Amino acid sequence: MSEKPRYYITTPIYYVNDDPHIGHAYTTLACDVLARFKRLDGFDVHFLTGTDEHGQKVEKAADVAGIDPKAFTDKVSQRFRDLLGAMNFSNDDFIRTTEDRHIASVQAIWARLIERKEIYLGSYAGWYAVRDEAFYGEGELTKDAAGQRLAPSGAPVEWVEEPSYFFRLSAWQDRLLKFYEENPDFIAPNSRRNEVISFVKSGLQDLSVSRVSFKWGVPVPGDDAHVMYVWLDALTNYITAAGFPDTESEMFNRYWPADLHMVGKDILRFHAVYWPAFLMAAGLEPPKRVFAHGWWTNEGQKISKSLGNVISPYDLVDQYGLDQTRYFLLREVPFGNDGDFSKSSMISRMNNELANDYGNLAQRVLSMITKNLDGQMPAQGDFTDEDKRLLEAATSLPEIVRPLMDAQTFHEALERIWVVIRASNAYVDHQAPWVLRKSDPPRMGTVLYVLAETIRCLAIMTQPFMPESSRQMLDQLAVPPDGRSFSSIATNKLMPGTVLPRPQGIFPRFSDEEASA
Ligand code: MSP
Repeated sequence: MSEKPRYYITTPIYYVNDDPHIGHAYTTLACDVLARFKRLDGFDVHFLTGTDEHGQKVEKAADVAGIDPKAFTDKVSQRFRDLLGAMNFSNDDFIRTTEDRHIASVQAIWARLIERKEIYLGSYAGWYAVRDEAFYGEGELTKDAAGQRLAPSGAPVEWVEEPSYFFRLSAWQDRLLKFYEENPDFIAPNSRRNEVISFVKSGLQDLSVSRVSFKWGVPVPGDDAHVMYVWLDALTNYITAAGFPDTESEMFNRYWPADLHMVGKDILRFHAVYWPAFLMAAGLEPPKRVFAHGWWTNEGQKISKSLGNVISPYDLVDQYGLDQTRYFLLREVPFGNDGDFSKSSMISRMNNELANDYGNLAQRVLSMITKNLDGQMPAQGDFTDEDKRLLEAATSLPEIVRPLMDAQTFHEALERIWVVIRASNAYVDHQAPWVLRKSDPPRMGTVLYVLAETIRCLAIMTQPFMPESSRQMLDQLAVPPDGRSFSSIATNKLMPGTVLPRPQGIFPRFSDEEASA
């Protein structure tokens, strides 16, 4: 018996200092779409997300809220869980860094690093940005008008001087460069890969991996004056969820190394430099790939709490619909680039691509079957070359879309699906089945059969992006639940005579009044 290939995909774990916003929803959405795609393509998928709950930033946010950090993290972590349901995310596990399984795992990786002499005790004197939970060298900083020093991210830094354990990152420079060279797909997109390589080439310093000036973290084993640096703690979540420290377990052997860590461009360095170095130093394999996506702006402006223009995923879903939001976020911007959210482009994509192109295709074809054929799938008859071309374009979609999904070019994957949607609309116009109804009823049957078959393939392909709308479309074609995987495209064709339920519109149009509201 052949075992299913496996696919382990992760989101970053989210800081619980703040409510979930569009940026969090975006990273998880990209993973959800990939996880769903791989499941439909026959993979055994493990899709992980969770919350990053330790560190000074969260401790400070709890302090401002006036509650202890544990109670605070319980509350905010729940909001990230709630988002999963609201966005129809299909994660298999949700990890919190305050869980016992994770604390045991972080302490175990620490012990491995100590044993291998990759960590030593020293003292740190330098700049730290709580907002980024990151250390910076003097040369990286700028000053604002008030003389406050700022990190390249714009976060204010403070001077820190305290005893600290260090990880021998400097010793990993050459091995990291060799690793990038031997694994050209490890960092994507390519422009980001070049940035990381030049950062590593410019020289690496040992990394401070413990703090003594606050308490909200995992205690260093054997020296509990120290808590572990939150990034060492957080990154380890990816192996905790695969069963670490039990490296002999079936789970660990099955899922580690992860196939893909999806991250935003701001946290690439942690994932593409520190994380593989920690893992190799601990005698563990690095992940296979890290993809860094871009950032969203709102109507051209940087999104920030102080500007009051934070986009809530809940508001988008309320206003435009869930699948519309999912579609827009992955269609609007080439994945990897920065992108701008604007109401007008959201509405134009909803109306043109979803309502007119896709929804209308299904609605017209299914209503013609209802009206002219008593809702029964017609016999297929003899295919013309034009029929064959459309069917061939539809059935070859898995082969066309698969490599695009493996490269995380979601916008291109959608575009290729839309090529077939547009070809189908052109085919309807050209074949004019409403004319054939009188002149050649059997030919009308064939045309509607070809179209229904094409819509079946399309709806199977759009499931990862728009699960609920695609489900409705497949229900309207009476496709059974076990006929919805990619392999069913070739094998489970629609059966003539099948009775289809009454069609219903799936993608509403936004009216002009709504659009200008
Ligand atoms: N806790 C760390 C990750 C640890 S992973 C071991 C963290 N958390 S975060 O909550 O600040 O950010 C999580 C993700 O949200 C990042 O991938 C980040 O890029 C993404 N986004 C935050 N704001 C964003 C936008 N405006 N646009 C797109 N994504 C953005 O970093």
